[in-house]
Amino acid sequence: MADVHQALPLETDEHVVAVRKAVREHAIDMKLSLVDQTKLVTAASELARNTIKYGGGGMVLLERLRDGLRSGLRLVFADTGPGIPDIELALRDGYTSGNGLGLGLGGTKRLVDDFTIDSRPGDGTAVAIIKWKI
Ligand SMILES: Nc1ncnc2c1ncn2[C@@H]1O[C@H](COP(=O)(O)OP(=O)(O)O)[C@@H](O)[C@H]1O
Ligand SMILES: [Mg+2]
Repeated sequence: MADVHQALPLETDEHVVAVRKAVREHAIDMKLSLVDQTKLVTAASELARNTIKYGGGGMVLLERLRDGLRSGLRLVFADTGPGIPDIELALRDGYTSGNGLGLGLGGTKRLVDDFTIDSRPGDGTAVAIIKWKI
């Protein structure tokens, strides 16, 4: 069972703040530990900034999940920007096409339970993450 709770815009720094706040609230409501709350907020923050900086803006969908005994939060960051031509390269620690540290995608992948990138040059990018509370 999944039910979409929220769709939030991602165009400005204020939007990033709002997404961090919403994710923190869901994480608390799911009873994630403080460490896991922070991991999830950090992951969301990195992806939100990528959506704005590289995707030219977009949105994030926040979806609460329930699977038997566990509950989770799924976040999908979507834009209609240029896409990622080489996903493997983009995931590599230290790779940036801008002036970042190149740790956002790889770092995010390590902070969550599930991580998928769907991107085609010219079509945009969707990055989906899931964090479960066991
Ligand atoms: N939404 C996106 N659209 C297009 N390219 C992206 C997107 N997100 C990430 N990328 C590409 O992946 C690279 C690596 O991203 P990341 O690991 O977050 O590092 P950084 O943000 O420091 O560049 C970016 O430099 C960019 O080339
Ligand atoms: Mg980044």
